[in-house]
Amino acid sequence: MKSFLSDAELKLLQDYSWESTIQNFMNHMQVYNAGIKEIKTKLEILDEEFQTRHDYNPIHHIESRLKSPKSILGKIRAKGLTMSYESIFENITDIAGVRVICNYIDDIYHIADLLTGQDDVKLVRVRDYIKNPKPSGYRSLHLIVKIPIFLAESTQMIAVEIQIRTIAMDFWASLEHKLKYKTGQNISDDVRNRLKRCADSISALDQEMQAIHNITLQQN
Ligand code: GTP
Ligand code: MG
Repeated sequence: MKSFLSDAELKLLQDYSWESTIQNFMNHMQVYNAGIKEIKTKLEILDEEFQTRHDYNPIHHIESRLKSPKSILGKIRAKGLTMSYESIFENITDIAGVRVICNYIDDIYHIADLLTGQDDVKLVRVRDYIKNPKPSGYRSLHLIVKIPIFLAESTQMIAVEIQIRTIAMDFWASLEHKLKYKTGQNISDDVRNRLKRCADSISALDQEMQAIHNITLQQN
């Protein structure tokens, strides 16, 4: 069918449509970046307060990342979601990701309670893979929260996925992730069993370190 627009006009329209799509997406990404900043600041403030009150830092360090457009697209396809901003906004809750590495197990729950107790933080989902480790041996506390981001003309509730774990759990997860990624998800039975044993040793180590740390807390 012949279009009533000239080829040049059609091209212009197409370019405009792609540009506005990309622009729209970038605006959303900016809001997610703001979500990461808000959560990181809240965590830093809690850590500093802890330092002054209890003379030690529960947080070893914080990492964060924005999910790449490519990986967002992959998740939309894997979950069979419709390709719209509303759908991404509602269903993909790990675009903004913050990882909190703590020194001790108790710090994980303490930080989680203090953060989710704040008036502007809405807790959406908790998955406790420390009390209920994954079959692989993976341990971490996962929270999905929503926080308000104040923009010039609106306020948006932005989802942020927060993974909280000890240094030892993080050490394990980094190696396991690297193995999964490099071998294309196919870890041999032998390596899988060895990783599971490492995860169990790490759990025992974390508990023993906590017990010893508790003695130092009593002495203070
Ligand atoms: P996703 O679609 O993968 O985000 O799954 P989900 O929404 O059900 O979340 P889940 O709680 O299973 O875990 C999400 C994130 O936790 C992953 O993207 C990883 O960063 C991390 N994770 C979960 N399981 C494992 C694991 O077995 N090993 C490692 N290394 N990381 C894991
Ligand atoms: Mg994920």
